[in-house]
Amino acid sequence: MKKDANTDYDIHPLIKQRWSARAFSQEPVEMDKIHRLLEAARWAPSSMNQQPWRFIIGIDKDETHQKLFDTLVEFNQIWAKSPVLILCLGKTKMNMKDEPNEAYSYDVGQAVAYLTIQATQEDLFVHQMGGFDKGIAMELFNIPVSYMPLVILAIGHYGDSDTLPEKIKILEFSPRLRTEIEEMVFSGSFGHKADIFAKK
Ligand SMILES: Cc1cc2nc3c(=O)[nH]c(=O)nc-3n(C[C@H](O)[C@H](O)[C@H](O)COP(=O)(O)O)c2cc1C
Repeated sequence: MKKDANTDYDIHPLIKQRWSARAFSQEPVEMDKIHRLLEAARWAPSSMNQQPWRFIIGIDKDETHQKLFDTLVEFNQIWAKSPVLILCLGKTKMNMKDEPNEAYSYDVGQAVAYLTIQATQEDLFVHQMGGFDKGIAMELFNIPVSYMPLVILAIGHYGDSDTLPEKIKILEFSPRLRTEIEEMVFSGSFGHKADIFAKK
């Protein structure tokens, strides 16, 4: 199913096409595609090249997949029945010294953005979920305290939206909304709309 962004300006087709689907197919995701998604994440930029991202991947109802699913909040469990689930973690400390890495979550977000764009290229869908129990995830996967669980990704091919419960189906077909561009770009001072867009 397509839900292309209704853009004011021409952008890259993959960015336009990406959206957060909920109707996943049970069809397994090809292993070479999974490899390429994580390779794309690996090549994201990061502050001081610290590469603070780590991933715990569960595939096709293996033990990891089941554990990841169990950490999801009830709302996400209703629909997140994708063959691949990935927990994204951020390393909160610098690699060579015992100091905090202030940019860790920013950098993991960039890696996930790269992964989602690669997924769109592969005809796959990614739905990011903050709705999961981070404490339980820390316990289930023996995650060291210097790593922060940030998001779980549901990844798969598109399935049949008719299989979704009614309240989820409504979300699946609702339009994708964004703040107007002039509301988010300023110049001079915060809140002062930038002329490049205000004149539009
Ligand atoms: C960090 C993060 C956490 C999210 N958590 C959830 C979630 O727990 N459940 C959910 O249904 N969607 C979740 N989403 C999906 C957003 O609701 C979605 O990206 C947003 O509505 C924009 O829709 P689009 O991705 O289709 O453009 C999350 C997205 C991000 C980036």
